[in-house]
Amino acid sequence: MPKDPFRIKLLDDGIWEIEQLRSVSSFYIEGTDRGLLIDTGVGIPGLRKLLEDKVSSVPYSVVATHGHMDHVGGAGEFDRIYMCGKDINSLKTCQLQLRKGYVLSSACALQGDPEWEKLADALEDISFPELVFIEEGYVFDLGGRTVTVYETPGHSPGSVSLFDDKTQSLFTGDLISRIVLLFDSTLDYRSRVEQWLTVVERISMLSPRHIYRGHGALLKVNLLGDLISAARGFLDGSIAVTHEERGDVISYGHARIQFGSTHADGKGVSELSDDAARDYLSGYVISSQKDESKPAV
Ligand SMILES: [Fe+2]
Repeated sequence: MPKDPFRIKLLDDGIWEIEQLRSVSSFYIEGTDRGLLIDTGVGIPGLRKLLEDKVSSVPYSVVATHGHMDHVGGAGEFDRIYMCGKDINSLKTCQLQLRKGYVLSSACALQGDPEWEKLADALEDISFPELVFIEEGYVFDLGGRTVTVYETPGHSPGSVSLFDDKTQSLFTGDLISRIVLLFDSTLDYRSRVEQWLTVVERISMLSPRHIYRGHGALLKVNLLGDLISAARGFLDGSIAVTHEERGDVISYGHARIQFGSTHADGKGVSELSDDAARDYLSGYVISSQKDESKPAV
């Protein structure tokens, strides 16, 4: 009997985690009037049905923390998705073969369930929904609670974090992880670490009670401390870069900050121009922010 590739967990007041392949998490926040789905996973079929059958009881919107395949891979099940336009380049990672590679190499290899390998064959090419670009300060008013967008570049140029005022919870995508990947090859290593540290210090000012990540969900505080120590140690010269097969790395305690472009497929994310990414998306609808006149899903 294969394990269910989805796992639903109530985390807090009106906050659920929907995990795919025990590897990547979406989160759903529900207010009195509306809901908000944060990320869509790699695209294992059935996320929308699961959400609507078992979790959501109100109309909802869908937002992506960033454009990598394991966060917007399920976007095709929905009609529109909010994301930061600065991450359009990252959407190229959603090509079918890369997503299949994620299922085979990242999820299944770690979890050891051969039945899940068959799910790679169930993946379909994404028919992207309408993309609605949002910026810093955009607010999802869910009724009785608001979720505010903060631009938090570092892992990718258009990564955002989302702050739920009701529970003081922060959803950070891949900004914070046991292995933080800093992909922006237009910046040197020092600039990447400075950017990441500045962003983390800024969102720390929100004093979140909980931080939920795309991989691993609830953050244990000591990991963030180790990550910050790694970053500060690199910047003050006390921690050196080491060269590993998957990329250059700095590490401290349990934390690693990696500069290489490894991402799931083991071969690296294509570094593409915005034009190339737009070619990939040609024919899809891209909207400006704050058009709430249309159905939200
Ligand atoms: Fe990512």
